[in-house]
Amino acid sequence: MSKNIALITGVTGQDGSYLSEFLLAKGYEVHGVIRRSSVDYRERIAHLEGTPNFHLHYADMVDSMSLVKLVGSVQPTEIYNLAAQSHVQVSFDAPEYTANADAVGVLRVLEAVRTNHLEKTCRIYQASTSELYGKVEEVPQNEKTPFHPYSPYAVAKLYGFWIVKEYREAYDMFCCSGILFNHESERRGETFVTRKITLAAARIAQGKQDCLYLGNLDSKRDWGYAKDYVQCMWLMLQQEKAQDFVIATGVQHTVREFATLAFHHAGIELKWEGEGVNEKGIVTLGPAELIGKTVVAVSEDFYRPTDVVNLWGDPTKAKTELGWNPQTTTFEQLVELMVRHDMAKVASEDAAAKVRKMNLAEYLEKGIVK
Ligand code: NAP
Ligand code: GDD
Repeated sequence: MSKNIALITGVTGQDGSYLSEFLLAKGYEVHGVIRRSSVDYRERIAHLEGTPNFHLHYADMVDSMSLVKLVGSVQPTEIYNLAAQSHVQVSFDAPEYTANADAVGVLRVLEAVRTNHLEKTCRIYQASTSELYGKVEEVPQNEKTPFHPYSPYAVAKLYGFWIVKEYREAYDMFCCSGILFNHESERRGETFVTRKITLAAARIAQGKQDCLYLGNLDSKRDWGYAKDYVQCMWLMLQQEKAQDFVIATGVQHTVREFATLAFHHAGIELKWEGEGVNEKGIVTLGPAELIGKTVVAVSEDFYRPTDVVNLWGDPTKAKTELGWNPQTTTFEQLVELMVRHDMAKVASEDAAAKVRKMNLAEYLEKGIVK
């Protein structure tokens, strides 16, 4: 039996870390792409480093030659192209880089496979996104819903989607896109709205932050659990035919609802007053010193030039053809597990800070640090 060899771009990200764990548990040899950074600590995959079947290599989505050489030396049977500048708001600030990494980067991966003559032996998964639906033309969205990208990020990802489809048809390659709706976890980047909220709720509950500033509270998302979603990426590559799939829970909530539930799990009940930029989340129940205080406020800094406000996925095709359960982890369970994680994280950060302070005091005393 031939060996399963996976190459994951974006291995240090939220999805890359869960996918690595998933594939290693299935007996894959896993190769991950990392890029040079001044900080060497790779938090999400630190626990995997040193595992016999887990290997890391330097390359970059904006460097064709590095990808060609890497694909040639690893000879993967599956590539999961997860690497991207993945923050929608940042794509307005760095649109050219976003296009280079998220659009042309996909082409570079496809060409790296062709250059190494692996078209017939290597299957490719492309991390596409519900952001393609953007200024939505239909609710809920399925595989047939027209695209209307509404940010530089989404426009770049649209190129990625179409070039994958083109290579599938032109060169008969097994390559497909997962149109994934928002998926979150304890490992979610801290500037995405869910994690920003769960960390702030934990800090406010523990007296370490006064107020959380958010942008559009009315924005609606279909939020799932990242750990459940990486299974679909793998399932898509195990099918007889390469096809694109919508991966979503089929349930939609607003940012306000996410925040209300997150604060609830942190022991704080909120009521909402005001509208638009004047809306506030005020504490009605919780620690005595917080009652009546505003702990959530709106800041225009987090408004986007164009915002996608109504994402809601229809996962029927994934359910019937992949046999996947979109409700493995519910919205309620997702919010609870993220808050529970961040309550512990914030508490332990404090303990670590105390130890650091003690060490510093000791060093000062000994004259090691001036
Ligand atoms: P993430 O946590 O932001 O991770 C992105 C990964 O891409 C990181 O490993 C990052 O490396 C890497 N990367 C960025 N630019 C690179 C470059 N030029 N060369 C090499 N690597 C680069 O994102 P995620 O949430 O795991 O999402 C994974 C993929 O799915 C992304 O393509 C994202 O756009 C897409 N997606 C995500 C969601 C979601 O809700 N999470 C939904 C739909 C689609 P560093 O660690 O060095 O920064
Ligand atoms: N980040 C952020 N910060 N978003 C906020 C805030 C805030 O303070 N306040 C409100 N929002 C709103 C945004 O305007 C957006 O409508 C929504 O919350 C979700 O924002 P993000 O969590 O940043 O995620 P996203 O939906 O823009 O993008 C994520 O999901 C896409 C799939 O739909 C990313 O993971 C993308 O990579 C992914 O493709």
